[in-house]
Amino acid sequence: MNKNILVELKNITKTYPSPQGELEVLRGINLRVEKGDKITIVGPSGVGKTTLLNIIGTLDKPTSGDIYFFGEKLDYKNEEKLLKLRKEKIGFIFQLHYLIPEFTVIENIILPGLVSYWKKERYLERGRELLKKLNLSEKEKYKPYKLSGGERQKVAIARALFLNPDLILADEPTGNLDFQSAKEIVNIFLNINQDFGTTIIMVTHNWELAKKMDKIFLLKEGFLIKLENTSR
Ligand SMILES: Nc1ncnc2c1ncn2[C@@H]1O[C@H](COP(=O)(O)OP(=O)(O)OP(=O)(O)O)[C@@H](O)[C@H]1O
Ligand SMILES: [Mg+2]
Repeated sequence: MNKNILVELKNITKTYPSPQGELEVLRGINLRVEKGDKITIVGPSGVGKTTLLNIIGTLDKPTSGDIYFFGEKLDYKNEEKLLKLRKEKIGFIFQLHYLIPEFTVIENIILPGLVSYWKKERYLERGRELLKKLNLSEKEKYKPYKLSGGERQKVAIARALFLNPDLILADEPTGNLDFQSAKEIVNIFLNINQDFGTTIIMVTHNWELAKKMDKIFLLKEGFLIKLENTSR
C-alpha cells in the first residue's frame, strides 16, 4: 500500500432517478489523491461536480464503485466510523457559507470544537489563532450579516480548518466573490497546503483560479479527464 495516498476512488458511478428515466451523472470515476495534493475540478454547470465532491466527502453514497481512505475501503454501514472520518479528517467549504446568523464569528468558528473532546479554553485559543491567520481578528464578535462575502467565506474556511483536517473539500468557494477576493481565498488554501500539508480539492468555474492548483481535472460526460496545467 502506498502510504502517500489519502483517498482513492475506484470506478465510482452515480445515477439519480429522474422523470425521463435514470440520470447517469458519474459513469466511472477513478481518482487517486495523494497527501498534499492541490486538485481542482472544473466543468460546466450540472455535470456532477458537487455530486462528486459530496461522494468524496462521504456525504453522499455512490451507486457503485469503492472509495478508500488511508488505504481502507469505506464501509457505509459503519455510521460511527464514517461520522468520525467526516468530522476529524475532512473540512467542507460550500458555495453558500452556511454560517449560523445568530452566532458571532468566533462562535461559528469554534462550532466543531463543541462536538470534540477539547476544553473550552483550547477551542477559543484555536479559533483566535485561525482568525489571526486569516486577518480577521478584529471581527471576532461580529455577526455574519455585518461581514462582506469574502470575510464570511474566510470564517467558513476557519471553521473547516478548526480540527486540522487532512482534506479540504471546497465547492466553488469563490463563486459569489469578485476576482480579488476570490484570489485571496485561493491563496489562503495554498498557504494552508504549504504550512500544514493539507490536501485541497476545489471546484471552480474560474480558469485563472484553477491554474493555481497542481492538478486540474475536467468532469465531462461522467468521466474525469486530466488537463495539462500549462501555467507550470
Ligand atoms: N438529489 C438529486 N436527485 C436527482 N438529481 C440530482 C440530485 N442532485 C443532483 N442531481 C442532478 O445531477 C446533475 C449534477 O448535479 P451537480 O449538482 O452535481 O452538478 P454541478 O456540476 O455541481 O453543477 P453546478 O456547477 O451548477 O453547481 C444535475 O443534472 C442535477 O440536476
Ligand atoms: Mg455544484
